[in-house]
Amino acid sequence: MTDIIKLFYSTFIVNKFIILFSIISVFIISCGADGNHPGYQYMPDMYESPSYETNSSNPVFKNNSTSQYLPKNSIPRGFVPFDFDNTLDDYLRAGNILVNPISNSEAVLSEGKKLFEMFCAHCHGKEGNGKGSINHPVYSAVPSYSDSITPRRSGEPMNKLKSGHIFHSLHYGLNAMGPHASQLSQEERWKIVHYVHKLQKNTND
Ligand code: HEC
Repeated sequence: MTDIIKLFYSTFIVNKFIILFSIISVFIISCGADGNHPGYQYMPDMYESPSYETNSSNPVFKNNSTSQYLPKNSIPRGFVPFDFDNTLDDYLRAGNILVNPISNSEAVLSEGKKLFEMFCAHCHGKEGNGKGSINHPVYSAVPSYSDSITPRRSGEPMNKLKSGHIFHSLHYGLNAMGPHASQLSQEERWKIVHYVHKLQKNTND
């Protein structure tokens, strides 16, 4: 009888060791992730997302791609399209019909001035007299805003350029002057236009 009890105890102890050993091994193995093995996943739903990955192929759409083109004629929220081409006709049209949507004030002028000094003054000069700090020959013919003599594209001199002319020039650029549509929002450009009108009235060039 005692032998049976002893046998029972000894197998019980051995079993306990086996169970303990197994648990420890599972822990050790599951912690053994290295560069080549990401480890084991517990409830993998969050790892393997049921949604489609960007740019993955996708049988749901005709062109078999998850990334779809925007519907035709869609525009970003708040974006106002500029309905003028980069042509002389549209430049003149802009000069005739565009009206600055921002009303002028001291605050607007001071914002326009700040933007002007960041984006334009290095070529046009702080006073708008065409004498900025850039003296490369390519930019040797920067016109003064207050020039009342030399005719421009509009047929009139710089000091007579209208808001639409200036806005169109900012949008598309002109020869050595690059376009500023991607650097400045429409609102910022209209503020600058107010400030350029102020500089057109300068007499000191
Ligand atoms: C890289 C130098 C450069 C920068 C920066 C620049 N301009 Fe000009 N801008 C010029 C040059 C050069 C001309 C003359 C282009 C020509 O007549 O061929 C010009 C012309 C103009 C004209 C006359 C356009 C016309 O219709 O005759 C306006 C208005 C003007 N710039 C406004 C601005 C404003 C406002 C900014 C800042 C947002 C600016 N420019 C930034 C170089 C620059």
